[in-house]
Amino acid sequence: MVTTIDRPARPGHDAAMNKRNEADSCVIVLFGASGDLAARKLIPALYEMAESGALPGGTCVVGVSRTPMSDDQWRDVLRPSVEHHARSFDARSWDKFAKRLHYFAGDGAKRNTYPRLMQRVDELSQSHGCGGNVLFYLSVAPSLYEPIIGCIDESGMVLEGRRWCSINRDSMPWQRIIVEKPFGQDAASAASLNRALGRAFDEDAIYRIDHYLAKELVQNLLVLRFANTIFEPIWNHRYIDHVQITAAETVGVGKRGDYYDSAGAIRDMIQSHLLQVMALVAMEPPTRYTAHHIRQEKVKILDAIVPTPADRLQEFAAFGQYAGAEAEPAYHELPGVKPRTTTETFAALVLKFNNWRWAGTPFFLRTGKRMAAKRTEVVVQFKQPAADLFSALALDGAPTLGRPANQIVIEIAPRECVSLRFEGKVPGQGMKLDSVSMDFDYARRFNAEPVEAYGPLLMDAMRGDQTLFKHRLEVESAWDSMMPFLGPESAPLRKNLAGNYAPGSWGPASSDALLARYGRTWHHGG
Ligand code: BG6
Repeated sequence: MVTTIDRPARPGHDAAMNKRNEADSCVIVLFGASGDLAARKLIPALYEMAESGALPGGTCVVGVSRTPMSDDQWRDVLRPSVEHHARSFDARSWDKFAKRLHYFAGDGAKRNTYPRLMQRVDELSQSHGCGGNVLFYLSVAPSLYEPIIGCIDESGMVLEGRRWCSINRDSMPWQRIIVEKPFGQDAASAASLNRALGRAFDEDAIYRIDHYLAKELVQNLLVLRFANTIFEPIWNHRYIDHVQITAAETVGVGKRGDYYDSAGAIRDMIQSHLLQVMALVAMEPPTRYTAHHIRQEKVKILDAIVPTPADRLQEFAAFGQYAGAEAEPAYHELPGVKPRTTTETFAALVLKFNNWRWAGTPFFLRTGKRMAAKRTEVVVQFKQPAADLFSALALDGAPTLGRPANQIVIEIAPRECVSLRFEGKVPGQGMKLDSVSMDFDYARRFNAEPVEAYGPLLMDAMRGDQTLFKHRLEVESAWDSMMPFLGPESAPLRKNLAGNYAPGSWGPASSDALLARYGRTWHHGG
């Protein structure tokens, strides 16, 4: 596996520079305009950006979908959704914003759609003043990704990409593409999708979105580790016993049975989001704060994951499927789900790295639907102190070693908080210890509520900043590490899954047994 990524083809594609850059106006060509993501996330996010004055003045959207609709009809469909999903809503701001929304009825996977689409994009670019910049957004069924990318390529709408050498790119409008997850179904399909994208676009024009990277506390991982002196020297196998990364959700699969049954918890959450979080926790310090340097380090650490032996998977994973309760039927009874499905709605995995920093330190990853609490967190569990100094002093003779060791908990959602647990002396006579916690709570310190990730990510793409988007090699390495858990060898893990954990629990018994095998227990928060 290649672990060095190409430098950006032009210096503008450098996070350090682009953080300071203004976002450029562009026409956003949104494939999947009548879909759920557009209505629930993308358009409300753009509305919020427009309302806050962040959306560049000329930016407009042309929604592409097969259903015949006029601009006004599409706006009428979107309005209630924006009212519901945006953080605030103002009728006058909406009327102004809605003028930037246009609709184009057509099949994005058919070549003959493109001459008309190109003409419409040109007209809108001129009337709104977008300077010819185009941001494609693939928010469609994954089976349509490659056909649409192929059509875009053939249409001649992309002036960058493989034609880069013949033009002065700095004086040209740009064309970029944002690709939604799932990015492939496995290592081979992800590589094929990357090849299709690479035929049409340069790597620095491809934005593989992962909304976890836009979460404040995920970004704060870099600041915590690399803007402080005290953590990095102990951030290794000598001081850290293990790391737990959890993304537990109380919601079930609901109406997404069709999609979810072909995905499962590993594809839906671990291969994408949790491995990204893990990479930020485990990677080496980048030498500069640029998209290129950060993504290079992520590729290296993902590449250092020790391959899981396919014949011993039960030592490294536990799977589950939620049972039914009043709020929602059991997973295997949902519409769209195969009755004898073996798809996991819960997965717990153990991964290790083959490098000097982490040799031997287990990273436990866990995600599940219908769990006891909505909780996304990283727990860094430190080792016990090297010597048991205080037990000798304790008047009551109670041993002090074996007390809770230091722990850093990075709560990503729903609360945004970093807590450090350490031992303190209980006031009074004798030497009694108790654990105390120092908390840095975002809401209390900054009076800031979590922001919907899509708005800032779209702005980054308009700015040309790829820091929070995934490189081709990150995606491919992440798939490589997950393949043993997804192939036919995973059949023993998938036996008798139906209803093996109760809704509102922390997953199946096999999940606790997995950690017990390593002499550890899951952190269930407080
Ligand atoms: C999505 C998954 O990527 O992330 C969903 O497809 C999941 O199944 C969601 O519910 C979780 O995101 P968040 O931000 O609520 O943790």
